[in-house]
Amino acid sequence: MFEIKNIELDFGALKVLDNFSIKGEVEQFLCLVGPSGIGKTSILNVLAEILKPGSGSVVSDNKRIAYVFQEPRLLPWMTVEDNMEVGLFSLDKDAHRRKKTVRQLLPQIGLEGFGHYYPDQLSGGMKQRVSIGRAFVIQPDLLLLDEPFSGLDEALKIEMQDLLLTLKKYHMCTTVMVTHDIQEAIKLSDRIIVVDGRPCRIILDVMINPEDRVEPEGKNQLTEKIKSALTKQKLIKGMNN
Ligand SMILES: Nc1ncnc2c1ncn2[C@@H]1O[C@H](COP(=O)(O)OP(=O)(O)OP(=O)(O)O)[C@@H](O)[C@H]1O
Ligand SMILES: [Mg+2]
Repeated sequence: MFEIKNIELDFGALKVLDNFSIKGEVEQFLCLVGPSGIGKTSILNVLAEILKPGSGSVVSDNKRIAYVFQEPRLLPWMTVEDNMEVGLFSLDKDAHRRKKTVRQLLPQIGLEGFGHYYPDQLSGGMKQRVSIGRAFVIQPDLLLLDEPFSGLDEALKIEMQDLLLTLKKYHMCTTVMVTHDIQEAIKLSDRIIVVDGRPCRIILDVMINPEDRVEPEGKNQLTEKIKSALTKQKLIKGMNN
């Protein structure tokens, strides 16, 4: 569980968050959707404690936070196994056990037999698998994902989404994911929050019924609701200009 309450975040003269609040329940999968440059990554960075807000409170009972970025960000001089082990160094002093933990996860991320490969010997999709594996290997209680699949082609994107859902079944964790892809948000999350700015604010907060993921009518209605919230904001802004 986490709760951000009335936070303010400035970059110099630019106010990105002003009196912004958001609460995530335990094991909830929450997607943040919204236009570019309005503060979605900044919200993840506040949750990851990379950014400290100027005022307001950030309460979280999460001890292990994992962060997956748009690019895999693997260390090129390290093998797949070593890249995945990095996050375990501070959590487990036993090198033998760390290796075992990594090796147990390799088949789950579809990389059995590739542990000794270096990043430049992997395809784009395989690299992103390592980056997801590196996140899950620490058994996070809070998983943050910043547009993790946006650079992938459609087929690979679906593969990665399915991998994420499978891993989440075995390793339950509260999840916050930023995406520009409404269909991806509906497929993966329990709740979608649409934000707009500046400063960034919530313009729609909807829970996803499991039927809405499979039933075309529910899915279409939800898609329209999200699209219309985003378009309405653009129109209002246009009127003010
Ligand atoms: N370290 C920084 N220093 C100065 N300004 C920053 C910094 N990080 C972010 N910003 C500014 O804060 C605003 C919000 O940035 P942020 O990266 O959170 O947006 P975003 O919603 O994630 O955008 P995108 O969808 O394009 O990734 C932007 O105007 C950006 O220029
Ligand atoms: Mg961003």
